[in-house]
Amino acid sequence: MHSETMSRRAILALAASAALVSAVPAWAQTAPQPARIGVIGAGNIGSTIGGLWAKAGHEVMLSSRHPETLKGLVEGLGPKARAGTPAEAIAFGDVILIAVPYKAYPQLAQDYGAALKGKIVIDAGNATQARDGEVYGEVQASGIAAVSAKYLAGARIVRGFNAANYKLFAKNAAQREGGRMAIPIAGDDPRALAAVSKLVSDAGFDPVVVGPLAKADSFAMGSPGFGLDLTAPELATRLGVAR
Ligand SMILES: NC(=O)c1ccc[n+]([C@@H]2O[C@H](COP(=O)([O-])OP(=O)(O)OC[C@H]3O[C@@H](n4cnc5c(N)ncnc54)[C@H](OP(=O)(O)O)[C@@H]3O)[C@@H](O)[C@H]2O)c1
Repeated sequence: MHSETMSRRAILALAASAALVSAVPAWAQTAPQPARIGVIGAGNIGSTIGGLWAKAGHEVMLSSRHPETLKGLVEGLGPKARAGTPAEAIAFGDVILIAVPYKAYPQLAQDYGAALKGKIVIDAGNATQARDGEVYGEVQASGIAAVSAKYLAGARIVRGFNAANYKLFAKNAAQREGGRMAIPIAGDDPRALAAVSKLVSDAGFDPVVVGPLAKADSFAMGSPGFGLDLTAPELATRLGVAR
């Protein structure tokens, strides 16, 4: 029974991969618009990607453990952006972007694990040796997809916006010669993948669904799929994604 469920999921994920390279699926076009997005961690990556969504017309709550520090940032992003605590952002969002240092994931699991269950969670975290200590060791041993699945258990995880520097995202969202920059994403939930594909597109990029969550290891920090500035067809070819 379990293997039947898994194979059905695998088929759905495969179908989603084929359909989603550089295209926004029909389902996502019927998803609630604008989306309500909560952003956990309003640093480099959270403020950059959250800002792109706010400017695209989505309702965005950026969060901090000290939300008063975000006043200037949200004012600069216009009327679609607001500030809150991480708990408020999770309650606000149908989709949650997690953009905190990876060493904070065990704490996130403890504090917000229950609230994140069932939410679409875009997981942008990377683990680095210098910053993330013990959790970096876990990622080296098991791969980041498995470690995110452990700490974000029950969430509909899509790994995304992890594979390049925030400055490159900001520059390419504004303008890129030769076509939009591709963003690799991976997850086990086809509807979450579809919703995130739409948000990737709305931020100014082309999504490439690489496959189920485990495939996120193919564009993890330190892998050959990390740090690429390519169009969707180029990235799909590089990562061996069927089109
Ligand atoms: N920088 C990049 O170019 C880039 C690109 C791709 C992926 N990433 C990954 O994205 C993540 C964020 O990177 P960043 O450069 O944006 O970091 P950053 O600028 O240092 O911002 C991280 C934010 O996380 C919040 N935070 C820290 N610990 C937290 C906790 N326990 N609970 C809730 N919030 C917490 C902090 O907010 P408060 O202190 O205000 O609460 C901080 O503003 C990292 O995992 C990184 O590897 C970064």
